[in-house]
Amino acid sequence: MSATSRSPEASRDAFKRAAAAAAVELVEDGMVVGLGTGSTAAFAVEALAQRHAHGLRFLGIPTSERTAAQARAVGIPLTSFVEHRQIDLTIDGADEVERGTLNLIKGLGGALLREKIVAAASRRLAIVVDGAKLVDRLGANTPVPVEVVPFGLEATSASLEVLGASARLRLTSAGDPFVTDGGNRIIDCSFVAIADPARLEERIRRIVGVVESGLFIGRAHMVFVADPDGVHRLD
Ligand code: 5RP
Repeated sequence: MSATSRSPEASRDAFKRAAAAAAVELVEDGMVVGLGTGSTAAFAVEALAQRHAHGLRFLGIPTSERTAAQARAVGIPLTSFVEHRQIDLTIDGADEVERGTLNLIKGLGGALLREKIVAAASRRLAIVVDGAKLVDRLGANTPVPVEVVPFGLEATSASLEVLGASARLRLTSAGDPFVTDGGNRIIDCSFVAIADPARLEERIRRIVGVVESGLFIGRAHMVFVADPDGVHRLD
């Protein structure tokens, strides 16, 4: 069955899987590989497990407890920054990819802090997405997730609103505040349009109480986008 003759959700999963498979081809013997978080990154972890089962030797550094659990379950050997300060290649998803710049919004899955630490330590960051994630301007469809310490989050949230955001504390389906792997909270900040994402990232970072934002500016080296026409690599 072709991706386009399936239900929209199944098609989207097929595109995510195809983009992930293309990025996994970049992994070579002996590499340290950053393992992203989210449904697309999970397809990459699956594909990596298959390559591992066929003899490829590599070590993974996961960007979340969720990904660590998946990687262990499928037999991927893990390492950490204690043993390796530098990562050869990270494969991760994104919520929005800006055409042309490859700037990103990440963090709807709640793992943005570890994802940014892993991205910053990576020689190459390969992003894997389906075509619906490509936008002309960041912020078009997605809020910018901002990880904040729990203390004073109401004041931190008010400071984010001064930047023009409509700020909302992320809740779980049970209605409790979402807690990140680092024990922090996430404030989702909607901006009507982000004209200067690099400046916005800097301004958000300067707010006391902010740990990190989901704006990934100048970090992606390549993006694998899958759509009905196939998988395209953007550099
Ligand atoms: C998690 C992330 C994810 O990469 C992002 O949310 C995309 O997830 P998905 O592939 O499920 O759409 O940044 O913090």
